[in-house]
Amino acid sequence: MNVGGQSIVLVGFMGAGKSSVGRCLENFLGWPVFDTDALLVETLGMPIAEIFSKLGEERFRTEETSVLERIGPAVPSIIVAGGGAILRPHNIVRLRELGTVVCLTADLPTLCERLKPVASRPLLQSENPDATIERLLREREPLYEAAADLTIDTSLLTHAQVAESILESLALTH
Ligand code: S3P
Repeated sequence: MNVGGQSIVLVGFMGAGKSSVGRCLENFLGWPVFDTDALLVETLGMPIAEIFSKLGEERFRTEETSVLERIGPAVPSIIVAGGGAILRPHNIVRLRELGTVVCLTADLPTLCERLKPVASRPLLQSENPDATIERLLREREPLYEAAADLTIDTSLLTHAQVAESILESLALTH
């Protein structure tokens, strides 16, 4: 069966709630979840932080792209993309092939709060993680916007409310 384009694809900055909202959607819809970070950890046999420290960011990005290429769900699914997946234009094309791209956002103070502690976040290992979050967010915002069919500000919502809002926007019931 070709179910291309019928999945829900979650993108957005670290801390926007993609994985948790993905789990809510899984509960609501009973659809399988494909999480690129989890698939990378499984494929390479090490945590994300170790992939960055041992293999470097470029290799991580290359592996992320090949994970996205390999995901070919046989049924409509929930696809959770790592926060940097939108950095490669080819990935955006792939994400849009897979389904409706929903970008989860949050305001800067909310993201900084949610991302504490930063120990497991290789990109935030800097002297001033809040400033790094702000810089990366500003750099990436146009890319998230360009990739997304739909954007939801999660700052004041629970994960379940975000999931409900996605279902409502896509006219899906549960
Ligand atoms: C990254 C986000 C992380 C993970 C890696 C790089 C990024 O995923 O893929 O640490 O570049 O924003 P989450 O967005 O799920 O935290």
